[in-house]
Amino acid sequence: MASLSSPPRVPIPANGVDYRGKVVLAPMVRSGELPSRLLALKYGADLVWGPETVDRSLIGTTRRINPRNSTIEFTRLPSNGGRSEKATQESVIYRIDPVREKGKLIFQIGTASPELAVQAAKVVAADVAGIDVNSGCPKPFSTSGGMGAALLRDPDRLVSILEALVREVGNPYQIGISVKIRLLEKPEETEKLVTRLCATGITGLTVHCRTTPMRPRERAIRDQLPMIASICRKAGVACVMNGDVTSRDEALALMKEYGVDGAMIATAAESNPSCFRTAAEGGLLPWREVVHDYMEACLQCENRWGNTKYLLNILIPGKNKEFKDAKSAKNYSDACRLLKFDDLLPTAKEVDKIMNLDKKATISSDDDVRTSAVQNAMENNESARAAGGEMSRPKQNSPVASGSGPIRTNSIPSPASNPKPETGVDLSAPTLNPQQDAGIAV
Ligand SMILES: Cc1cc2nc3c(=O)[nH]c(=O)nc-3n(C[C@H](O)[C@H](O)[C@H](O)COP(=O)(O)O)c2cc1C
Repeated sequence: MASLSSPPRVPIPANGVDYRGKVVLAPMVRSGELPSRLLALKYGADLVWGPETVDRSLIGTTRRINPRNSTIEFTRLPSNGGRSEKATQESVIYRIDPVREKGKLIFQIGTASPELAVQAAKVVAADVAGIDVNSGCPKPFSTSGGMGAALLRDPDRLVSILEALVREVGNPYQIGISVKIRLLEKPEETEKLVTRLCATGITGLTVHCRTTPMRPRERAIRDQLPMIASICRKAGVACVMNGDVTSRDEALALMKEYGVDGAMIATAAESNPSCFRTAAEGGLLPWREVVHDYMEACLQCENRWGNTKYLLNILIPGKNKEFKDAKSAKNYSDACRLLKFDDLLPTAKEVDKIMNLDKKATISSDDDVRTSAVQNAMENNESARAAGGEMSRPKQNSPVASGSGPIRTNSIPSPASNPKPETGVDLSAPTLNPQQDAGIAV
């Protein structure tokens, strides 16, 4: 029971989570897909934010369970870019591991409308611990639609979005609603905004300690933090700091120094998620170990190959030979051979088949490990490639990609039932998230 002197707290709903005392993975478009989140959790992140997903891209998706790994997938058929022929393969818009992410996943929404925000949030509400509104993305893709940082200049709208989410999603589904903002230019402006946001019923507020025009390379500014933390404390809202936090140990020290409740890490975790390990736990792991763990998670999740490759390029230091090799890999088997992850090779072959990536191999036979010189020659020389034989291999239709796999389709759970079903994982489909396609970094 709270003592008379303890500050008030907005009650944490039954299926929600308190951000206090937590060091968390930041929302990151592209870099915050399921394997990255699982890795962050494995290394000690207390909570993970998923990548911003725009309301309209989630509305109308189908929720299904992947029968092989039990992850939950929200899918839809792509529009096919206006072409007349209909796409046959569904795209996974969002993927959740209901076991390992249980009680730890915050879904971040990109929105400019209370109605659409509520509609989209209801799609995932029974499968997540919280819904966070992105009010900090400075990219034109976001701001031109009135989303992201545009909401900082339209506080009435932001307040109405948060109030609608609290009333129509947070309360019935018993999860927390939160917001992630940037600093405004003048402390008085930030103060006014934070005061209003804290009165909406939200359980948490994250502040990215940069203003909207600031570039990611510019150092975060923290002088407004004590003021923001104090407003949040008085309102009973958890305050999470973000910007230039590089490790769990540093996060804990900064939380103490600035009187904030939690800390969020983005770019440091993107390049080495073992930053969530304390020094006492051994601190940062060498990149090879991290990349091995990452690859294992990607295989378990059947992560989209393009996304896996994108992250490999970030996780492997640029000067390493493996960096060049990994760049040329066309599928999971290739990458595992090139990186000498022999233990993962059998699974990699299976996943390549499931995802229809096996025909894309740049290495001729399943058991033939070529040197990177041969590999590169094959990359650059069509005839050498043809002689490799992989190109002429008959296409194998995966039961999943061809739609005949035993995928179960669930209806969206109702708030009261709060089912939290078994897990599942991604297929080969390209993601439809418009931000990912637009390469948005927020
Ligand atoms: C690749 C990338 C993607 C990002 N995507 C999002 C996002 O989806 N939503 C969001 O609120 N912020 C996003 N951000 C911003 C981060 O969450 C964070 O606020 C910012 O990087 C500052 O933290 P840092 O100094 O630890 O990097 C992204 C940042 C990066 C680097």
